[in-house]
Amino acid sequence: MVDFTLTFPPGFMWGTATSAHQVEGGNTNNNWAAWEQQPGRIFGGQRAGRACDWWRGRYAEDFDRAAALHQNAHRFSVEWSRIEPERGKIDRAALRFYAEMIAALRARHMEPLLTLHHFTNPLWIEEDGGWLNPQTVRRFAHFVRVVAEELGADVTLWCTINEPMVYATQGYLLGRFPPGERNLGHALRVAEHLLRGHVAAYHALKEVRPDAQIGLAKHQISLVPGRPAWLHQPALMLVRQMFNRAFILALTTGELRFLRRSIAVPEARATFDWVGLNYYYRFRVGFNLLRPRQAFIEQTRPRQGLLGPPGVGEIWPEGLFEQIRWLAERTDRPIYITEHGVPDADDSLRPLVLVRGLRSVWRAINFNYPVRGYFFWTLVDNFEWAEGYDPRFRFGLFGCDPQTQRRIPRRSAELYGEICAANALTMDMVRRYVPEHADALFPGVPVQREVRLPARR
Ligand code: FCB
Repeated sequence: MVDFTLTFPPGFMWGTATSAHQVEGGNTNNNWAAWEQQPGRIFGGQRAGRACDWWRGRYAEDFDRAAALHQNAHRFSVEWSRIEPERGKIDRAALRFYAEMIAALRARHMEPLLTLHHFTNPLWIEEDGGWLNPQTVRRFAHFVRVVAEELGADVTLWCTINEPMVYATQGYLLGRFPPGERNLGHALRVAEHLLRGHVAAYHALKEVRPDAQIGLAKHQISLVPGRPAWLHQPALMLVRQMFNRAFILALTTGELRFLRRSIAVPEARATFDWVGLNYYYRFRVGFNLLRPRQAFIEQTRPRQGLLGPPGVGEIWPEGLFEQIRWLAERTDRPIYITEHGVPDADDSLRPLVLVRGLRSVWRAINFNYPVRGYFFWTLVDNFEWAEGYDPRFRFGLFGCDPQTQRRIPRRSAELYGEICAANALTMDMVRRYVPEHADALFPGVPVQREVRLPARR
């Protein structure tokens, strides 16, 4: 019988990731709260409401759960609209709340990774044009400085912006996130301003805390061309350049290139100490003449493979390796997997996704790609943006009923706990959690019966 241990490097960070609006509850002063009031925007007309009730203190019991699973890190975000509810007005109590949250992590020997922008803007920012308005760059930097001054002594790892290209495309090209626009030019301008916002935040943080380790979380997707490949390959290259590559390349070359447009942002060069990879799906891309508003490009999911709910791509954890490789080679920086997970209410896919994903990360580490940590999305089921509390979009190691706030552990929580405790994935775990896949995922080593050495002369 095959036996093995995939060991991770000493000090590897194991955690989960969350974001403020998705777990806190009671956020009423940001663009999402306003968006949720509009009919037809969120699955079933739902609102974030109390979410996971973290704002009223329930984060402590969820951190206990994470610590009991031997996690040694946690990624979370602070909510700008709480800290700066009106332009120039800082809410000290909100800052104290986050300081307590960080202390709660430290008390449990968990390293905080703090995200400064995760999709939400204060209403006063949104009403003044959001990230279409170049002023937002300076305003964001000011907010970041306030946070760094207050919380900087207890945080080393900072993530400036979560998924800038998701924010730009979902909000300004596909119309699924606020403000619901479908305008390619606006999407590109927003991406440019987010890049400038990242740069400004980087400098604000470094001025206050020269030892801060600063990165951003970049969402990458795996892509296959539609058929015939020769016809659709150019569509793939466009999507890859625009969605996966442009933003990262701007941080190394100082030039943001979309389609035929090139924007010089020389000050962006080298403004990062690490890079975060958010990875979920593989898509098929091709041209479709019926999609003029999306530059005639269409993204669908391949018809085979591990399929989750409709609307998302194929679940293909092996894609982690390719994305890690590209990021490592292009950026020459340490990498954190800042998100990886799967929508799966009955936990039928999650253990397998964890095993395949971590096998892929381990493989990358053995190619000497500098992966330093892994943050599973997510700890507890939460408010999944446009999907709201759609039962098909539950991402947690623990289930959470938003009505009763009851937490229900899933089997994958136990598996993840074992992995974190051992700092390794073992064949024994694979046999216990995904027995039906064990032999296919980890085939035996062929036995070499006879070794013939060349005859000596
Ligand atoms: C990522 C987001 C995160 C969550 C997961 C499922 O794109 O960053 O907030 O919605 O997807």
